Amino acid sequence: MTARPYPLHENYPRHVAIIMDGNGRWATQRGRPRKLGHLQGAEAARRIVRAASEFGLSYLTLFAFSSENWRRPGTEVAELMGLLHRYLSGEHRQELEELDIRLRVIGQRERLPDTTLRQIERIESETAHHKGLNVVIAISYGGRVEIATAARRLAQKVQEGEMDPGEINETLMERFLETSAFPDPDLLIRTGGEKRISNFLLWQLAYAEMVFSDCLWPDFDREAFLAALNEYQMRERRYGALVSTG
Ligand code: FPP
Repeated sequence: MTARPYPLHENYPRHVAIIMDGNGRWATQRGRPRKLGHLQGAEAARRIVRAASEFGLSYLTLFAFSSENWRRPGTEVAELMGLLHRYLSGEHRQELEELDIRLRVIGQRERLPDTTLRQIERIESETAHHKGLNVVIAISYGGRVEIATAARRLAQKVQEGEMDPGEINETLMERFLETSAFPDPDLLIRTGGEKRISNFLLWQLAYAEMVFSDCLWPDFDREAFLAALNEYQMRERRYGALVSTG
């Protein structure tokens, strides 16, 4: 178990979700192949996982591969899958041990290559007892598919007579989402200059604060992360209620 030099501040987010955008542009700006951008992007992800662990956050969810990313050229898809595979093995796998990180994956597992799937299942079970930061990697993930799948499973329960349609409410719906074991994100960070959610955690981000950064993901470092956390700390979250007058 690692010591935490930055004890959790009262206003720190418990769960941060990140859309890691801008790898391709980072490489193109340098006249280099996109795959170099993804490689540097994976290194940035590693840095941010380490920083989140040091800052004492409880959950960090990273959008590594969307359900729409399958439409990219086969070579780029293979490169991204290869990178994920590499980052879930060897020295990187060791880092999860050292930082006491519990790793979990959300997304359409049935679309993943067999080797990646087996590796994910092994790491999830090997880190299940870890007590530090929870890292959730979204791979082949899409928010709409997740919600539609939950609705289908609920409908099945009704059809089988295990549930009454009148029982279905927000709390029950959440139990059928892939994220049922995690709290909703408090903060969403998106790098790369675009200001949209891109089908990421559609249900779960309902009340999240959002910080958009022009920084391209491979350049996102500990200082940029701290700046986003500080911006979050300045915000007042009201969940639809009125401003508190103290
Ligand atoms: C968006 O950049 C990024 C992705 C599609 C993939 C994110 C993947 C990584 C950071 C590497 C693997 C991650 C881990 C956790 C090991 P883009 O290619 O859409 O960039 P662009 O908008 O500039 O083209």
